[in-house]
This record gives sequence, structure tokens and C-alpha cells, in this order.
Amino acid sequence: MTRVVVLLSGRGSNFKALLEADLPVTFTAAISNRPDAAGLEHARARGIPAIALDHKNFPSRAAFDETLINEIEKAGADLVVLAGYMRILTKPFVERYADRLINIHPSLLPMFPGLDTHAAALREGVKIHGCTVHFVTPQLDHGPIVIQAAVPVLADDTPATLAARVLAQEHRIYPQAVRWFAEGKLVISDGRVNVREDGVSQWVLSTP
Ligand code: GRF
Repeated sequence: MTRVVVLLSGRGSNFKALLEADLPVTFTAAISNRPDAAGLEHARARGIPAIALDHKNFPSRAAFDETLINEIEKAGADLVVLAGYMRILTKPFVERYADRLINIHPSLLPMFPGLDTHAAALREGVKIHGCTVHFVTPQLDHGPIVIQAAVPVLADDTPATLAARVLAQEHRIYPQAVRWFAEGKLVISDGRVNVREDGVSQWVLSTP
């Protein structure tokens, strides 16, 4: 079984979607940098170790990430999943988990990296928006793309209505990405991800 540690900072709806997807993985821990993160409840409710590491108690980002690594290693992880983890990771952390660290971002990367992606999409007037699961590299919101889903942008959208439409797709594609990883179907080459489905190599784009 692929051992998965989830890192989160907030409500944890993507974590919940992963838990409910009946994936061929074992969740060995959920770790939050915010002790009050609601997402930790999803772990507690299922008897998965829920670990709160308050980043405010650490003198530096490096010290925090060292402790984070210790906790991940204690739990055991083949894959580290960022699910609304709102803290920039240090280079040593990213390098340690290279090719086994994935993130979900609420835009069609490389468009709209960073925060407030839905407001940015509305400001730019794009007609298609979406979400991306990607392997994490030291460059923020950048890295080999595993899967994307697109949604229409409607004339009367607000950041909140657009976010809700995108979030529904996040809950669909993140479990798919983790399933592929667990099944050994993701091959990274030249900074791109090849998905081996049924012996056939293919590029994958998912639309609703
Ligand atoms: C999601 O929109 C995700 O794409 C972004 O942070 C948000 C987390 O939501 N990285 P949740 O905590 O999974 O509900």
C-alpha cells in the first residue's frame, strides 16, 4: 500500500475528497501548520494521526520544515500530498520529496500562480478557468502537470461562485491523480508527466 501523508492548513475539503475516494493507499498522518485547521477533524474522525505543528512556535522556516520532515518520516510516506497547505516549503524539503510531492492549485497553471486565482481570472476576463494537480518543484506553483480540469467562466460569476465550480473539479481530479501515483502510472520525463493507462501512454486533459 502506498503510504500517504497529507499537509493542510484549512478546511480540508480536498483531503475529505481523497478519504472518500476509496484509494489504494494508507493515510499515515495529516499534518497542519495551523492547530485550528478544520481539516484535521477528517483525520481524527477516521483514526488517522492528526498532527498540529504551529509554525509560529518555530524560529525559522528551515527549523519548521526540519520538524515537518521528522514527523513525515515518523509516519512513513511514499507520497506527500499538499491539500490546501498554505505555507511555502523550503528547498531542502522540496528536494527531499522530489517526484513524490504533489499539490493542487486552483487555476489552469501556468496561468494564475499564487493567491486569489479566481479574482485574477475574472479580472483578466478569461472564459475558461480550472484547476491543476502538479508535482512540486522549488518554483512556486510550477512543476510537472499530472491532470487538469477546465470549467467555464460565466458572465455573472463572482470569485466565490467561480471558486465553488472549480472546487467541485478539484475533488474529482485530486483523487484521480493520487490513484495514478499509487498504481505507478505516473512517469516524469523532461519536466512533463506521462500517464500510463492500460499500457497506452497518453497526455491527459480532463474536462467536466
Ligand atoms: C483549494 O482551492 C486548493 O486548490 C488550494 O487551497 C484550497 C484548499 O481547500 N491549494 P481545502 O482546504 O481542500 O478545502
